[in-house]
Amino acid sequence: MSELSVNHLLGIKYLNKKDIELIFETADHFKEVINRSIKKVPTLRDITIANIFFENSTRTKLSFELAEKRLSADVINFSASQSSVKKGETLIDTVNNILSMKVDMVVMRHPNPGAGIFLSKHVKASIINAGDGAHEHPTQALLDSYSIKEKLGDVGSKNVVIVGDILHSRVALSNIFALKLQGANVKVCGPKTLIPKYIESLGVEVETNLKKALEWCDVANMLRVQNERMDVSYFPTTREYTQQFGVNKTLLDNLNKEIVIMHPGPINRGVEITSDVADSNQSIILEQVENGVAIRMAVIYLLASKIK
Ligand code: CP
Repeated sequence: MSELSVNHLLGIKYLNKKDIELIFETADHFKEVINRSIKKVPTLRDITIANIFFENSTRTKLSFELAEKRLSADVINFSASQSSVKKGETLIDTVNNILSMKVDMVVMRHPNPGAGIFLSKHVKASIINAGDGAHEHPTQALLDSYSIKEKLGDVGSKNVVIVGDILHSRVALSNIFALKLQGANVKVCGPKTLIPKYIESLGVEVETNLKKALEWCDVANMLRVQNERMDVSYFPTTREYTQQFGVNKTLLDNLNKEIVIMHPGPINRGVEITSDVADSNQSIILEQVENGVAIRMAVIYLLASKIK
């Protein structure tokens, strides 16, 4: 039987192409399961998973919890803002206390890059990174590629542009790793101040003209400006940002082809994307969210089969 090359999902950087193919094949099966009238399988009845979130989340937290419940795992949820972290308890102490309650797997979102990697070296549990600062968000990149494959039949050789705040985006970095592994051509587009200097070393081209980027691509993945990670201004005003890097219906209608529009969420309507684009037939934003459950079921199932 095929298995993942890793015992934790800490980042796409640590996966190979076969891992991604295996996750997608497994997700195909679970997507079929969650579209049945009985959406649940007994596969992980003997597994307990802790979802520990040190940062806000809507999609990722709910999607993981649903994926775990669909697999019949026991689930506990931990929110740092309501916990003894507020009394000074460390990350390792917190997690080791949770693990003493016989927890097998930890899904963690944390504001610090590398938090999942650090944890994996200090605790005895399988760790899934649900977003670590501006570093990686591996399950988001997996569900994004899976959604492109579902929509266009393949990811390899497709032209994908990631637009917006690349500098602060874990979604951008994980997507770049995942897309390049699968043979896609990747460009990033945004204000120069929001594009890291090292980006071209990842095999990615920079395009600062949004119209040119959209004319080139098959898929545009629109990102939110992450104001919460900025302590200085990276562009003059939001209005000017939107004029240069926001996607709207007129821009799309003036292209000579129909491109696919993606967004990991949360959306800032009217800033990086207008409502008529977000809610159009070209947008697969809600399909991304739907696929997130199947992808997370696949990741949890494949990692759990390594600890049994
Ligand atoms: N895409 C994403 O990570 O959304 P949340 O922050 O709501 O989980």
